Amino acid sequence: MNISKICCIGAGYVGGPTMAVIAQKCPQIQVKVVDINQARIDAWNSEDLSALPVYEPGLDAIVGEARGRNLFFSSEVDLAIEEADMVFISVNTPTKTYGEGKGQAADLKWIEKCARQIASASKSNKIVVEKSTLPVRTAEAVKDILDNTGNGYKFQILSNPEFLAEGTAVEDLLDPDRVLIGGDTSTEEGLEAIQALVDVYAHWVPSERILSTNVWSSELSKLTANAFLAQRVSSINSLSELCESTEADIYEVSRAIGKDSRIGPKFLQPSVGFGGSCFQKDILNLVYICRSYGLFEVADYWEQVIKINDHQKGRFAKKIIKSLYNTVSGKKITFLGWAFKKDTNDTRESAAIYVADLLLNEGANIYVYDPKVSEDQMYNDIDYLNTRTKVENRRLLQSEFDPYAACKGAHAIAVLTEWDEFRELDWQKIYDQMQKPCQIFDGRNLLDKQKLEKIGFRVYAIGKSS
Ligand code: UDX
Ligand code: UDX
Ligand code: ADP
Repeated sequence: MNISKICCIGAGYVGGPTMAVIAQKCPQIQVKVVDINQARIDAWNSEDLSALPVYEPGLDAIVGEARGRNLFFSSEVDLAIEEADMVFISVNTPTKTYGEGKGQAADLKWIEKCARQIASASKSNKIVVEKSTLPVRTAEAVKDILDNTGNGYKFQILSNPEFLAEGTAVEDLLDPDRVLIGGDTSTEEGLEAIQALVDVYAHWVPSERILSTNVWSSELSKLTANAFLAQRVSSINSLSELCESTEADIYEVSRAIGKDSRIGPKFLQPSVGFGGSCFQKDILNLVYICRSYGLFEVADYWEQVIKINDHQKGRFAKKIIKSLYNTVSGKKITFLGWAFKKDTNDTRESAAIYVADLLLNEGANIYVYDPKVSEDQMYNDIDYLNTRTKVENRRLLQSEFDPYAACKGAHAIAVLTEWDEFRELDWQKIYDQMQKPCQIFDGRNLLDKQKLEKIGFRVYAIGKSS
């Protein structure tokens, strides 16, 4: 089967970049990305490519090349579904905030809405591709809705989880470690649908990197990959605390273990804690699924990854408070970075939010400089926790456009995101304008500790004893 028109429902961090790359690599396929959020669609269509709603290095050039040629952004969801041979579902699946499974299960209401909409808008057979991360066996529910609420057309469901990491989305999409396609491997139609999607990726991905599995393995592989990656971060972070109590240095440990080819060097960077829209959500989801099958030991094992992450964020905030003589009330504390990692404007589950919340509880005045995150976004994030009133949050937290203004007069600086530009700041100038003793809490081990100490700073770095 030859795919000539693709529709993607959801123009977010996953749908936008993924479809832009498919469109760039397959100029003969029309790719339409649709979203109910008109403002988001307008931003994707903006003339000024620096105003796209998702910031990713290299994305502006790809959108610039393909948009208007075979890449389109629109809010006409039904029309795009009707035209397409293949429909990707790339809507958000956050953790449930209410009812059964609150705080753990994935909220699938947007997925269900999409499935119903696909069924009602379809006027021909279609291949439906799950791009969003979903709990195992969601495809069954999607299929049930499509088969029972539609107009008699046939649907093949594929699972094609996205493994891109934010900040490197374009690189990851152009040169993926693998592409995973799960489908109904027991029928002719299922195999044909898998092949149709394989053919799309084969435009630029070598065939040995395109894996096909049954649907359930594909759904579970996505959760497992994120759980393993997050587990590595929690493992190294847990040992960073032990290093601080001993004479060991987490960098030396991580270098030493990373040389073991069975362990490997990647994803062993100690930090103030992992963030992002996926790790926590997917592990909570895995934990919930295990409990629902009565696998309590398995659930407890994975839940510990989240507990260590929460502990890491909490102990970073406590370290700041303790070093500032156990009182931060009324003191200016500067945050360098708010995004959950560098090279993205995404702040979902960012450690900065939780560290800020703990310090605000103690009455600190926080000034944040982040090169890509707006003040509105910071307020959304902190208000969302519901810890104090919006008025209080605006009184205690502000963003600054200039890093030097953010640091001027501060009692302490905390590095929450590893933006490269922080390394290049004029640290002598910052030192001269700060309250003494000048303290830096480097939650990313980004800065040159020795150089800063030479200037006169007291530097705390994760996983180093002195
Ligand atoms: C281990 C370390 O690998 C080695 O570096 C260290 O010096 C000593 O401890 P060893 O115990 O000899 O070596 O064997 P290893 O191959 O690591 O296996 C340990 C156990 O894990 C075995 O029972 C093995 O069957 C099991 N295992 C290993 C698995 O069940 N699955 C795996 O994927 C790997
Ligand atoms: C992750 C997965 O990497 C990706 O494959 C999946 O598709 C989505 O989830 P993402 O959340 O975008 O991607 O970024 P990632 O690079 O994995 O970082 C997640 C968090 O872990 C960040 O807060 C990062 O700072 C932190 N991290 C990562 C560490 O603290 N140490 C590390 O060694 C690696
Ligand atoms: P992700 O990181 O998974 O891409 P985002 O929240 O960035 O998540 O993007 C998901 C997008 O899906 C949002 O822009 C949201 O408006 C959109 N969306 C959710 N439900 C629907 C729907 N039924 N129809 C169209 N778009 C939807």
